[in-house]
Amino acid sequence: MTKVLPDSAVEAYRRDGYFFPLRVLAPAEAAGYRRRLEAHEARAGAPLQGNWRHKTHLLFTWADELVHHPAILDAVEDVIGPDILCWTTNFFIKESGSRGFVSWHQDSTYWGLDPDDVVTAWVAFTRSDVESGCMKVMPGTHTESQIPHVDTFHADNLLSRGQEIAVEVDESKAVDIVLAPGEMSLHHIKLVHGSAPNRSGDRRIGFAIRYIPTHVRQTKVRDSAMLVRGVDVHGNFDPEPRPASDIDEAALRAHADAVARQVAALYQGTDKSEFRA
Ligand code: NI
Repeated sequence: MTKVLPDSAVEAYRRDGYFFPLRVLAPAEAAGYRRRLEAHEARAGAPLQGNWRHKTHLLFTWADELVHHPAILDAVEDVIGPDILCWTTNFFIKESGSRGFVSWHQDSTYWGLDPDDVVTAWVAFTRSDVESGCMKVMPGTHTESQIPHVDTFHADNLLSRGQEIAVEVDESKAVDIVLAPGEMSLHHIKLVHGSAPNRSGDRRIGFAIRYIPTHVRQTKVRDSAMLVRGVDVHGNFDPEPRPASDIDEAALRAHADAVARQVAALYQGTDKSEFRA
C-alpha cells in the first residue's frame, strides 16, 4: 500500500529512475521558502555560497521544516520505505544569465552509499524549465552499473568535483524535468542527469533533499544524517540535531561537523577541504 503515489508512479520510478511532477507545496508556500532564503541572503549581502549550500537544513529552521515536510516524506516513503534518514541537502541556485551548469553524471559516483536505494527529492523554489536550465535525465540509466567519470573541477560546474561521465551521452534521449514552484521530482542515485545554464530573467532555485532508508551504509567515512521518519535500528550514521533557531551557535557547530565528514567522503583522493562556491 502506498501513501500518496499511485502504483503507476512507483512503477515508473522503478522502471525509469525518476518521477515528476509532484505537487508538494502550494505556490504561496514555495514563495514563502524562497522569501526566507532570500531574506538571509539580503542580510548576508550575498547569495548563499560554499559550504552553506550543503546540509543547509542543519543551519535554518525553514530548511529543516522542509526536509520534514509530510507531503515530501509521504512520497519518499512510497519509494524507500518508512524508516528514513535525510543524508544531505544541496541548493542548486543558478543566477539569471549565469554560466553555471551541471555536467552529465550519476550521483552514486562519489557518495560512498551502499546499497543504492537512495532517492533525491528535488524541490523547485522557482520555475525550473528549459530556459532556466532545468534538470535533464536519461531514462532507465539507473539500472546500468556505475559508469566511469572524470573530474574536471570546471569553474562553472555546480558539482563538487566537476565530475562528468567519461563516455558519450545520447542527448536526444534526454527528458526535461520541468517543474513549477512548489513541485518536486524524485530521482534515483544512479540515474544519469545534468543541466544547462539559466538563460531566463529570474534566478533558478532548486533544493535537493537526499533521503536514504536506515539500512544504507556510508563506506568511506563515519558519516552523520538526520532521522526524519520512523526508527533507526541500524545506527549506521551519527544523529544530527535539528536547528533550534537560524544559524545559532549550536547549529553552526553541527553544520561544520557534518559538512567536514561529507567533504572528507566526497573529495577523497583530492586536496580539497571545503565545497566549492
Ligand atoms: Ni546529481
